[in-house]
Amino acid sequence: MFFEQIADGEGCQSYFIGCEKSCVAAIIDPALGQANRYVGLSHRSGLRVRFIIDTHTHADHFSAVRQLKQEFGAATVMHRESPSPHVDIRVEDGHLLPLGELRLNMIHTPGHTRDSMCVHVEDRVFTGDTLLIGGTGRTDLPTGDAEQLYDSLFDKLLKLDGETLVYPAHDYKGLGHTTIAAELANNPRLQKRERAAFVEMMRGLNLGAPRHLTEALRTNISGGKTVRQLLAEAASAIPFMSLEELSRRIGRQRNDFVILDVRERDAYGRGHVPGARHLARGQLEIRIDETFPDPDLEILTVCEFGKISTLAAATLRELGFRRVTALDGGMKSWRESGYPVETGEEPALLI
Ligand SMILES: [Fe+2]
Repeated sequence: MFFEQIADGEGCQSYFIGCEKSCVAAIIDPALGQANRYVGLSHRSGLRVRFIIDTHTHADHFSAVRQLKQEFGAATVMHRESPSPHVDIRVEDGHLLPLGELRLNMIHTPGHTRDSMCVHVEDRVFTGDTLLIGGTGRTDLPTGDAEQLYDSLFDKLLKLDGETLVYPAHDYKGLGHTTIAAELANNPRLQKRERAAFVEMMRGLNLGAPRHLTEALRTNISGGKTVRQLLAEAASAIPFMSLEELSRRIGRQRNDFVILDVRERDAYGRGHVPGARHLARGQLEIRIDETFPDPDLEILTVCEFGKISTLAAATLRELGFRRVTALDGGMKSWRESGYPVETGEEPALLI
């Protein structure tokens, strides 16, 4: 079996497994930021990715399932209970997914979420967030249930052979993997073997909400984009202009070059690049034609941090303005670098 564990540096673990004889592979719990690594692995290993499996609806990181489905033309796999509309193969407890000569055995393990499952293949089990090294998944997030987690662990997962290797979806300590026997012996949460004591412990954990909870659920359930993805796509469609280049340009006073501040009016009034014009991002599409009738104008968009201006520049390019750039770093960097700032409104141009 071809096997590679991919850590994203923030504790998320994903897995690339394959049957070398049949040249096919599956990816388990892919993370959005790692997409290029999976593509690289597929090329390096010579294995074609057939399945992309999410062990559950993640609330704490962004799944790359949908992106990789397009990239590889592979089928996405989740438990039948998954709310996502982008699942090609919905599986249930006891289903076997054939991967060349390998058989991926699906074990439904609700508790962390209703749609949680573990994937057992040969000598190892991919436990998602059901069982972690020295921990378990939490049960206080949407569709979590401590009673179900107890049943999933003690009646199912922990009944696997003690030597079975455990590969979880999270590992914050760089331990890599563990075994069923080691967890039964050492995992503090598994020492509560009575149902009532286990449930009470899980309900009393009082954990903080994960970062990006709502965004992760929104994008993982709907297949929509994360804010970072949206910005990255916009940034890949436009060039930036450096602070130094802009500082050279403002001395030249060219007629076909416009600095367009897309922040709100009060922010513009408090300080903008000398000579900048103002058109708030919210008004951009509505007012652009009356403001700039010439699509060959060179436009530099400026905002506070360089993000909204990137979106604005990408929008202008889409609208047909071919010479649009965004200021790299935004007004914050401009001010902090000591470049000149002009204050006040420019009445004739205010929208
Ligand atoms: Fe999770």
